[in-house]
Amino acid sequence: MCGIVGYIGNREVSGVLVDGLKRLEYRGYDSCGVAIIDEGRPKVIRSVGRIGELEEKIRQTNPTDGSVKCGIGHTRWATHGRPSETNSHPHRDCTGRFYVAHNGIIENYLYLKHRLMGEGHAFATETDTEVLPHLIESYYAGDLEEAVRRALADVEGVYGIVVVSSEGDGPKIVAARNGPPLVVGMGSGENFVASDVPALLPYTRNVVFLQDGEMAVVSSDSVQVRNSHGECMCRPAETISWTAEMAEKEGYAHFMLKEIHEQPRAVRDTLRGRIGANDTVTLSPELHNPEILAGVERLQIVGMGTSLHAAQVGKFLIESLARVPVEIDNASEFRYRDPIIAPRSLLIGITQSGETADTLAAMKEAREKGAYLLSICNVVGSQAARQSDAVLYTHAGPEIGVASTKAFTTQLTALYLLALELAQLRGTMPEYEIQRHVRQLRDVPDQIQKILDQDQAIAELGAGFSQYSDFLYLARGINYPIAMEGALKLKEISYIHAEGYAAGEMKHGPIALIDSEMPVVVLAPQDAVYRKTMGNVEEVKVRDGIVIAVATEGDREISQKADYTFYIPDADPLVNPILSTIPLQLFAYYIASLRGCDVDKPRNLAKSVTVE
Ligand code: AGP
Repeated sequence: MCGIVGYIGNREVSGVLVDGLKRLEYRGYDSCGVAIIDEGRPKVIRSVGRIGELEEKIRQTNPTDGSVKCGIGHTRWATHGRPSETNSHPHRDCTGRFYVAHNGIIENYLYLKHRLMGEGHAFATETDTEVLPHLIESYYAGDLEEAVRRALADVEGVYGIVVVSSEGDGPKIVAARNGPPLVVGMGSGENFVASDVPALLPYTRNVVFLQDGEMAVVSSDSVQVRNSHGECMCRPAETISWTAEMAEKEGYAHFMLKEIHEQPRAVRDTLRGRIGANDTVTLSPELHNPEILAGVERLQIVGMGTSLHAAQVGKFLIESLARVPVEIDNASEFRYRDPIIAPRSLLIGITQSGETADTLAAMKEAREKGAYLLSICNVVGSQAARQSDAVLYTHAGPEIGVASTKAFTTQLTALYLLALELAQLRGTMPEYEIQRHVRQLRDVPDQIQKILDQDQAIAELGAGFSQYSDFLYLARGINYPIAMEGALKLKEISYIHAEGYAAGEMKHGPIALIDSEMPVVVLAPQDAVYRKTMGNVEEVKVRDGIVIAVATEGDREISQKADYTFYIPDADPLVNPILSTIPLQLFAYYIASLRGCDVDKPRNLAKSVTVE
C-alpha cells in the first residue's frame, strides 16, 4: 500500500511527481503530497483525497519557477493516523530540512517517538513515519546518506522510503528498502524512484529493483546502490518490456473494463512459448529444477483474495491431472499455524503483484522449513519472484484496476499449464490426453472473446440488479472458487453484500436467506455435478429466489428454470472456471458503475497489500 515517487533532473518536477502519483494511485488514495527542494528551499504541498486535488493545489501554489530539479511524492493508504492533511506524507523534522515519504510500517515507532520527544523533538502527526525525519535530523552531521543509514538502524518494521533534504552540497534523493518495493528508473541526465514500474514507463524502461537492505543515492547523473554494510552494489539496469500505453485506459471508462477486455490477449501471452509444436507443454526450463517437481509428494499453494481463489482452482487442476495431493492455505493463516512442510514438498505462492505481505511471509516460512518455492506472479522482478526458486510469470501486463481480473484468468491458465507439465513429468496421463488439454487451452482466448462480445447483454442484466443489496453465488466442484471470486468482485467494487458458497452447503444455513429479494447467481456448466447443481436451482426457485444462471451454450433445460441465463461456450470442465469468470467480472463491473462507485479505486482498498 502507498505509492512513492521521486524525481531529479531537468523536467518540471511537480509535473513528473503528480504524473507518477496518478499512475500509482491504485496503491492507496486517502491523501497525497509532494516535497520539492527549490534551489535549496523546501516546499511541501499536501492534500486529503485524490491526486487531482493535489494537482489543483500545486497549480494554485505554483511551487517552482521551472528551474527546480528534485522532489518526492506520496499517495497514502492510511495505517497509523487517520487520513488528514496533517498525516499526509512527506513528513518533516523539527527544522524543516529533512523530508520523508514512506510505504510500510515502523513497528517500534512509539518507543522511538518517546525517545525523540525526550530529546526535545516536537511531533506534528499521528503517523509512525514521522519518527524517520526526526531520527535523520538527530543523526545528521553533513552526510544525508549516513544519517538515513543510522536512522534505519534504529527502526523495526518494513519500509520503502525516499528522503530529500535542503542540506548538503547539491540535490539528491536517498531511497531505501526493507520489504515494500522500490525501483530506480535510469534516464539520461535525470533519474527516478518509484514504488512500481507504471510510474516510470513514460520516461524510462531501464530500471534497477532495490533489494531488501539496500539504499540508493540518486542524483541527476548517477545512481549508487549500496547494501546494508555500505558496500557498493554494481547492478546493471534491467529493461522492462511493458510500454507506457499498456498502463493507459485507451478509451475505456475504467481500467477494470479495459483489463476485462484484455483477457484474450493476456491468456494468449500466458500460453505463448509454453506449448510445443506437438501440443505438449514446455514449462520445464522455467521451473529450473523439474526433477524436484517430478518427485514431489505433496504440494501446498498459498495466496490472498483473488489469488487464493486461483489457488483453489489450481488444486482441482493439479490433483485431477497430475494426481499429487494439494493443500491450499490462506497465506495470512499459514505462517501462524506452524505448518508441516514435508520433505520433497513444493510450495507455490500465487500473487499478481508479488508484493502481498502475507503471501511473502508464508513463502518465507515454507523456505525456512525446506520447501522448494515456485511463484506464479505477474510483476517481473517483484519480491515474490526474487525469493522463489522458480517463477511462472503470467504475462498479463500491468493491472491497474484494484479489482483483479486479467491477473486471475492468467493465473488459472498458468496453473493449468503447470498441472499438465506435472502430469507429463510424472507420467500420470497419456500423451494424447495432454495434447487434448493443450488444444483446449489454445481455444480459450477465442472463447473468452465470444463472451466479451456479449458485453452489452451483461450490462443490461446488471442494470436490472443494481439496486439489490444482497447476492448469493453458488457452484460446485472446480467452479466453487469462481462463485467466491464472483462474490468478491461484486462486493469489493459495488459495496453490495455478496457471498460465495459451495452449492451443497446451501441447505446448511444460507437457504434461510432466500426470498424474492435475494438474487442467486448459480454457476451450472454441464459437468459431472450439473444434476446436483440443478437441484439447488429448484430449491432456490421454490422459495421465490431469483436465479441468474451461468450455463453451457445449448442448455435449454436451465433456461426454463432460471430467471436469467447467461451462456458460456461449451468447453471441458477444467476450462469452465476461466470462462465462467468473465460474465461475473462484467456483471460486477456494470452494477458498480451504475451505482456510481469508483470502480478502479474502491473505498478502503489498495491494489497491493504490503502490510499484514
Ligand atoms: C481482488 O480483486 C483484490 N485485488 C485482492 O483480493 C488481491 O487479489 C489480493 O490482495 C492479492 O493480491 P496479489 O495477487 O497481488 O498478491
